[in-house]
Amino acid sequence: MSAADPAAAHPAATASGRPGPVTVPPFAVITGAQVQHALQGRERQITELVEDTYRLHSAGDSVNPPSYFLRFPDRPSARIIALPASIGGPIRVDGLKWISSFPENVAAGLPRASAVLILNDHDTGYPFACLESSIISATRTAASAALAADWLSRSRPRPARVGFFGAGLIARYIHTFLAGNGWSFDQIGVHDLSAGSAAGFRGYLEQSGATGQITVHHSAEQLIRSSDLVVFATIAGQPHVSDLSWFGHNPVVLHMSLRDLAPEILLGSVNVVDDVEHCLKASTSPHLAEQLTGSRDFLAGTLEDVMAGRVTVPAGRPAVFSPFGLGVLDLAVGKYVYDQVTRSGQLHVIDDFFHELRRYG
Ligand SMILES: NC(=O)c1ccc[n+]([C@@H]2O[C@H](COP(=O)([O-])OP(=O)(O)OC[C@H]3O[C@@H](n4cnc5c(N)ncnc54)[C@H](O)[C@@H]3O)[C@@H](O)[C@H]2O)c1
Repeated sequence: MSAADPAAAHPAATASGRPGPVTVPPFAVITGAQVQHALQGRERQITELVEDTYRLHSAGDSVNPPSYFLRFPDRPSARIIALPASIGGPIRVDGLKWISSFPENVAAGLPRASAVLILNDHDTGYPFACLESSIISATRTAASAALAADWLSRSRPRPARVGFFGAGLIARYIHTFLAGNGWSFDQIGVHDLSAGSAAGFRGYLEQSGATGQITVHHSAEQLIRSSDLVVFATIAGQPHVSDLSWFGHNPVVLHMSLRDLAPEILLGSVNVVDDVEHCLKASTSPHLAEQLTGSRDFLAGTLEDVMAGRVTVPAGRPAVFSPFGLGVLDLAVGKYVYDQVTRSGQLHVIDDFFHELRRYG
C-alpha cells in the first residue's frame, strides 16, 4: 500500500473531461478514521452538499434504482441492503453502498450497522475507492434530517423543544448535525425502550455541551407531547404510535426510521418524503398509508418540492418527513471524503489492485 500522488491518483482527471488518455484509475482504501477526519466539524458544508444533491436528483441528473434487500431465513432480524446509484453535476460518480443491519450486534456492544461504499470512475467504470461507510451513511442521514428540520419549520415558530424517540447512533449524529447547523434547544427529551441506550445518549448530550434541560421520558406519549421537533430513530419493524391526539401541538416530525407511525398519524399530517417511488415500498408507514387509502393523495411532495417552493408546509398540522435514504447522497458525501483525503496527500492506494489489464496477456 502507498500514499499516492494526489494528481496522479485522482480519477476526476479523466472524469472531468480533461483531455488525456483513458487510463485505469488507482484503487484506494479509505478507513473510518480518515472518513471521520474528513467530515468532522463540517456539518453546514455537508448539509449544503446534501441539499444540492437533492436538487440534482430532482432535476433528473441521477440514476437511483430501488435498493435491494438481502434477507436471511436463519437470521430474520438481519438484512444487507445494496444501494447502487449514479450522480451527475459537478460530482459525476457512480457507485454502490452495501450496508448491513444486524440489530443483535447492539447487545454485544457493537453498532447495528456496518457498511462499505464503492466509487466507480465515470469514464472507465473501474472502481477507484472503497470507503468505510457507516460514518458516511449516518452523516448523510443526519444532514438530510437537519435540512428537513429547517425547511419544514419555516412557516412555524422554530422548535425549541426536541425529542429523540430511539437513542442510538443515528440519533447521536442527528443531534450533532442539528447543533452544527445552529440549532439550540431549551429542552431535550429522550425516550428509548432500553434504559442503557437512553442513559448512553444522555451522557453523549452532556459531554457535547448541549444546552437545555435533558429529560428521559419513560412514556412515548410524554416525549411526543413535550417536543416541537420529534426525531424517530428506532428499529421498529411496524407502527407502534397510533394516537393522533399526541401530535395535537403540530410538531415537526423527522421520521427517519420510517415504520414507527400508524397510517392514521400520516393521514392527519402534512407528509414530505425524499423520493416518492422509493419511500412507498418495503412496508414503510407511507407505504401502509397508501395501501390503506388506495392513493398517494396524503403526500404533499418531496423535500425538494418544499425547497423549490412548489409545496408549502402549513403550520396547522403536524409536518412529517419520511426519507427512504437515497444512494445518491452516499455517493455525494463519499466523493467529498475522497476528494478531501486526496487533497491531504493521505490517500492509500493499493498497488497493482487491477492486474489483468492487457486483453491477450
Ligand atoms: N431513513 C434513512 O435514510 C436512514 C438511514 C440510516 C438509518 N436509518 C434508520 O435509523 C434507525 C436507527 O438506526 P441506529 O443505527 O441509530 O440504530 P441503533 O440500534 O443504534 O438504535 C436504535 C435505538 O432504538 C431503540 N428502540 C427500538 N425500538 C424502539 C421503540 N419501539 N421505542 C423506543 N425506542 C426503540 C433501541 O433500543 C435503540 O437504542 C434504523 O431504523 C435505521 O434503519 C434511516
